[in-house]
Amino acid sequence: MQISFVAPSNVTPTQGGGTWVVGAAEGGALLPAAVRMDKASGGALSRGLKFSRFTGKPGQMLEVLAPSGIKVSRILLVGLGKAEALDEKGLETLGAQIVGRLYAAGESAASLEIDVPPTSGKGGSKVKKAELAAHLAFGAKLKSYAFDKYRTRNLDEYEKKLKTVRIVTPDLAAAKKAHAGLAAVADGIFLARDLVNEPPNILSPVEFARRAKAQLSRLGVKVEILGEAEMKKQGFGGLLGVGQGSDRESQLVVMQWSGGKKSTKPIALVGKGVCFDSGGLSIKVGAGMQGMKGDMAGAACVTATMLALATRKARVNAVGVIGLVENMPDGGAFRPDDVLTSLSGQTIEVLNTDAEGRLVLADALTYTQRRFQPKVLIDLATLTGAIVQTLGYEHAGIFSNDEQLVHRIQAAGRTTGERVWQLPLDPFYDKMIRSKIADMKNIGGANSGAITAAQFLLRFIEKDTAWAHLDIAGVAWQDGEQKPTIPSWGTGWGVRLLNRLVKDHYEA
Ligand code: BES
Ligand code: MN
Ligand code: ZN
Repeated sequence: MQISFVAPSNVTPTQGGGTWVVGAAEGGALLPAAVRMDKASGGALSRGLKFSRFTGKPGQMLEVLAPSGIKVSRILLVGLGKAEALDEKGLETLGAQIVGRLYAAGESAASLEIDVPPTSGKGGSKVKKAELAAHLAFGAKLKSYAFDKYRTRNLDEYEKKLKTVRIVTPDLAAAKKAHAGLAAVADGIFLARDLVNEPPNILSPVEFARRAKAQLSRLGVKVEILGEAEMKKQGFGGLLGVGQGSDRESQLVVMQWSGGKKSTKPIALVGKGVCFDSGGLSIKVGAGMQGMKGDMAGAACVTATMLALATRKARVNAVGVIGLVENMPDGGAFRPDDVLTSLSGQTIEVLNTDAEGRLVLADALTYTQRRFQPKVLIDLATLTGAIVQTLGYEHAGIFSNDEQLVHRIQAAGRTTGERVWQLPLDPFYDKMIRSKIADMKNIGGANSGAITAAQFLLRFIEKDTAWAHLDIAGVAWQDGEQKPTIPSWGTGWGVRLLNRLVKDHYEA
């Protein structure tokens, strides 16, 4: 789908084909562009309003097909709701809803001329014209994602007819500028979705690493790939333990984007990249194993965020480190009862090979801190089923040793709609992972599973590192379309959040 911005002086709705999309405020009052369309069509909109329950609430739509007097195929009137409540997220949702409607209609081209609604009270509207245009475009783009590469039949059934979307805005330069940053984020989100959706027979650790390198190095990101021999030499006992039952080689990918001053310490992102999690010898049951191709969503998010930052040339130093493995059972697999020596030197008694993500992360966290001494360290992982039971699908869990970092991430979550909910860390929970024979064991008790997993990671955080762990098991993928901006399965969760965090707090 092609998205462009045009100035109102360069368009004449009465002559163009396709759909013309205009806005109404809460209560149903037509905004200026809608008033013009109404006039041009001899009052088609105001007549239509009389026969409809349209009241201008967000997402409501009124469609007039083949209006007389003008050459547009239809006018689509969309509700913007209360001006005071209109924000970035809401505009993105609206952009996506419009595209969804036009997909259903089979439309091939559309122009959106949506005005900022006036506010009733003091303060004025929160969103500016340029932002409104940019976020509508971003939402439209997010809706256009599809993962159809493995379909071979009935392709026309899946084909989206809508090919061009024009956003009409008076503030052209500012809109294009605001949109450039968001387009970079959309590229990242699409990459993350592609990686999460890709089946595990195709996306092995080596293939993931190859794609990361191919996508990022052309943008000026330095990408290094460590294979098993190198990791063995350095002592990655946790990560290699998980991967040893797989025929596929484990990988560690280190990505460095240096957009900031040389002297500033980087922000570091670490991702769990279990390309398939069978559970290993503690094998999962059939239903629990389905979807475990997505167990690399943390790594996908990290890779995608690096792509977004590099694409928009963010003025920040950022490093991304992802541990890529496949957790499989075979004669060489690690066992329950094994003791592994992690890169940090701490020993881990493995009591369940399905608690593998923390073993991968432990080594990736140690490596990242030792090599980069990051100013903040954030890891993302589809770590526990327990977080899904706790928070469901609307919040990721956040655990941290730094309250300021939590507040920053929470705030970024509220603006982007990728929300996080804090859960506790406490020595009480740490006791639950004490081992009878080693420094720790890799599972806690029957309860508080997301917390004991986070306590495990905390043992690999060095004294001065500001760290946050995001357990994204409930938000990384979804069955069916739950939100207009997120088509089915891989969500690309976290790219918007982290991009926003960087933008608001870590860019020069
Ligand atoms: N990848 C899973 C967690 C998961 C479960 C992600 C469901 C998404 C949806 C993780 O490796 C795992 O298996 N965790 C175990 C830990 C347990 C053995 C302590 C779990 O949550 O059951
Ligand atoms: Mn597992
Ligand atoms: Zn896992």
